[in-house]
Amino acid sequence: MSDLSGEKLSVEAIRSGTVIDHIPRGRGLRILGRLQLKNSEARITVGLNLPSRNLSAKDLIKIDEWQFTETDAAELALFAPNATVNIVENYKVKRKFTIGMPSEFVNVFWCPNANCVTRHDSVGTRFKVNRTVDGVHLQCHFCERGFSEELFTEQDRLLGLAYMETVV
Ligand code: CTP
Ligand code: ZN
Repeated sequence: MSDLSGEKLSVEAIRSGTVIDHIPRGRGLRILGRLQLKNSEARITVGLNLPSRNLSAKDLIKIDEWQFTETDAAELALFAPNATVNIVENYKVKRKFTIGMPSEFVNVFWCPNANCVTRHDSVGTRFKVNRTVDGVHLQCHFCERGFSEELFTEQDRLLGLAYMETVV
């Protein structure tokens, strides 16, 4: 993005790690919260409301020394399915892919149904992804209830943290 010099100046290049680019504005902090759940030690730089070619403004996250796998990326799909993941090695982008939408989420979100077995026993969680006219619905493998995506993207980070510590 040589034409967007403002961005280059505002967030430094990294030597090795992962750059999540083209995150819709406003989603960066949610993604940051999820990343910190997975790795509280990760060295992370966040850019918010940066100029973008395709979006009116974008968020961007750079993670040093953590090269994302497709699984790491898929866990962020509800927040930014069209974001670009760049794997950086020795200051160069070695690989680039779009996050996309997986067919299911395993151990990423907790079930909004308070009576679901996954809220009481350490069995992990599993949701099937169904695309509908009004967005994405997730269906719990255990209680079989379906939920709209907002119930997951707005999940309380602390409850998620307590959950991850017990089952992962
Ligand atoms: N980047 C970085 N550190 C590096 C190399 C790249 O932080 N050592 C960042 C760039 O600032 C950019 C992203 O990784 O935000 C992707 O880099 P690049 O592919 O060079 O940029 P573009 O070609 O503009 O990417 P796209 O076409 O996906 O918008
Ligand atoms: Zn359930």
